[in-house]
Amino acid sequence: MKILVLHGPNLNLLGTRETAVYGSVTLESINQELERLAKAEGIRLAIHQSNAEGELVDWIQKAIGDFDALIINPGAFTHTSIALRDAIAGVGIPTIEVHLSNIYRREEFRQHSYIAGVAVGQISGFGLDSYTLGLRAAMAHLKRSQAVKT
Ligand code: DQA
Repeated sequence: MKILVLHGPNLNLLGTRETAVYGSVTLESINQELERLAKAEGIRLAIHQSNAEGELVDWIQKAIGDFDALIINPGAFTHTSIALRDAIAGVGIPTIEVHLSNIYRREEFRQHSYIAGVAVGQISGFGLDSYTLGLRAAMAHLKRSQAVKT
């Protein structure tokens, strides 16, 4: 099982960015926790962060045939990017959308996600745990869909 993890814009600033909203967790500590969990579960991860929409689209496109699932925190592109939505729909890789903050408790413009409609599901509001829950959800989804196929 191989899972791609993508972090969108400004998530490289975690640790110092709007700590009242996102806490003091750094991107590096999120990635370490994901790697630790993946290793314990015997799955392989590739993890990238980008501030550029096109680069995220490229990684999603290149995932075809190589990755079984995608975990993505699209950051602000959640609320703006039809291109990311189309890329996810186009590759057909099961996708879990994650957010550190609960986007439905925040400003109105954050309460709409272009990604949710093409994702298996969304996890929002649990800080670092949103990612580990996302990884567990991806594994459970893959196991379930493999069981259906056999
Ligand atoms: C975020 C929520 C988005 O609204 C925001 O633009 C982010 C982070 C989150 O993880 O809570 O950059 O995706």
